[in-house]
Amino acid sequence: MNKVNWGILGAARIVEKVLPIIANSINGELIAIGSRRTEAAKSIINKANPELINKVQSFNGFDSVINHPKINAIYIPLANEDHTTTALKAIRSKKHVLIEKPMAIKTSDVELLLSEAKKFDVTIMEGFMYAFHPQFERLLDMIKSNILGETHYAHSMFSFPIQPARHYRINRPIRLGGGALWDIGPYAIHTLRQCFKENPKRVYAQSKLNEHGADLSTTGMIDFGQNKRATFDISFECTRRSEVEVFGPSGRAKIPTVWQPEDQKGKVVYSTEKSGFHEEIVPMASHFELEFKHFNECILKNTPPKLTSQDALWNVKTLEALQESISLNNWVDI
Ligand SMILES: NC(=O)c1ccc[n+]([C@@H]2O[C@H](COP(=O)([O-])OP(=O)(O)OC[C@H]3O[C@@H](n4cnc5c(N)ncnc54)[C@H](OP(=O)(O)O)[C@@H]3O)[C@@H](O)[C@H]2O)c1
Repeated sequence: MNKVNWGILGAARIVEKVLPIIANSINGELIAIGSRRTEAAKSIINKANPELINKVQSFNGFDSVINHPKINAIYIPLANEDHTTTALKAIRSKKHVLIEKPMAIKTSDVELLLSEAKKFDVTIMEGFMYAFHPQFERLLDMIKSNILGETHYAHSMFSFPIQPARHYRINRPIRLGGGALWDIGPYAIHTLRQCFKENPKRVYAQSKLNEHGADLSTTGMIDFGQNKRATFDISFECTRRSEVEVFGPSGRAKIPTVWQPEDQKGKVVYSTEKSGFHEEIVPMASHFELEFKHFNECILKNTPPKLTSQDALWNVKTLEALQESISLNNWVDI
């Protein structure tokens, strides 16, 4: 096998972007897409990459994709609360799975997915595309090379005003996956965790909730122990922000568009006590393309993915603790 054969579940908005990337990857091929809405699978192929309409199969429902004999890997960009049930079916059908963030909305579900993936000997990864962009790799290099000194504090901000067409994302309480915490929160929190050596010890957050109990805005703190700490702000009410900044005793570094690099180009701005201010432009790159290329390589070479199982587990553990903190209005230990 020199290419991975893919199936996609659901005609989600994100599929418009990702479908041509999976289909045109150097080490992957798109075989089929299924949607629960009649004809939506076909129309998303037409919209995203019309040349593929006679090449990629489209199905009503998911079972024909999950049980497809030619398919080796399944991409799951469904609503967060549908990740676990569909991923379990795919894993038990011996398919590798790439699940959009967050892998699930309960730690116990992530544990189940990971143990089933082990049992059925398939590769599983949570889809954090930004981690594959060279601008983020550059930031991690700076942290590792110690030019900033050890990270003492980091801050992330993700926001945009939510459009009326997307109000179904805020029509249910946080515990059922509604609101900013489970939607854009995974990015803000995952990114902060990558900047520290330790796992979070405890968290605290406060939210503005709407009438359905979904958070429109959440501000929180993550305590990594030994006075290492991070803060984040996520919102569906503020103007667009997509940034992370890291601080050590010797310097600071920031990515101004960490999850939404402009025109695929990246930028890291940093300053150190010794050398002053710098701005580094990172060459063009598509983080989704790099993510799928990497996952395909892991399957083809039987190597572990860069985003590990433990990472997915800690991501959802931290989000779940933040959810609890919002409802208790208190610190929650992890
Ligand atoms: N990595 C990224 O950059 C990125 C960006 C956005 C979202 N995400 C993640 O990707 C996943 C999907 O997010 P999304 O915002 O793209 O999903 P979405 O558009 O809300 O779609 C989610 C699911 O709902 C169904 N659906 C879509 N449009 C619908 C409509 N008009 N009426 C009824 N049902 C509809 C689709 O399933 P059927 O086709 O089967 O009906 C689809 O798979 C989430 O886990 C999210 O966190 C990732």
